Amino acid sequence: MESCNLQVIDREGKTHELEGLVGWRAMEVIRDYGLPIKAECGGCCACATCHVYVDAAWVDKLVPASDEEINRLDDAFDVESNSRLSCQIILTKELDGLKVTLAPEG
Ligand code: FES
Repeated sequence: MESCNLQVIDREGKTHELEGLVGWRAMEVIRDYGLPIKAECGGCCACATCHVYVDAAWVDKLVPASDEEINRLDDAFDVESNSRLSCQIILTKELDGLKVTLAPEG
């Protein structure tokens, strides 16, 4: 499988380089790496605890959020225009290097 690496900035401002794979969800890579993301629903777009901010350079490269994701983001805290649920970001080759910041915990 092809790799799709992520850059993830944690809540202390530290950047982590994560090795991901095409086809995975960004949330799964972040969680498996051990960064503090709750992802309580396991990726079903039902909890909003996988909230991240997408770096400005990458926002337009993502598939736009579904209505379901937009509705769920209403439940998240500190939502910004670049907020996404990381379980709804499926990694592709084009997203190699995707940069996101973990949103504050609610
Ligand atoms: S993991 Fe629950 S909405 Fe993403």
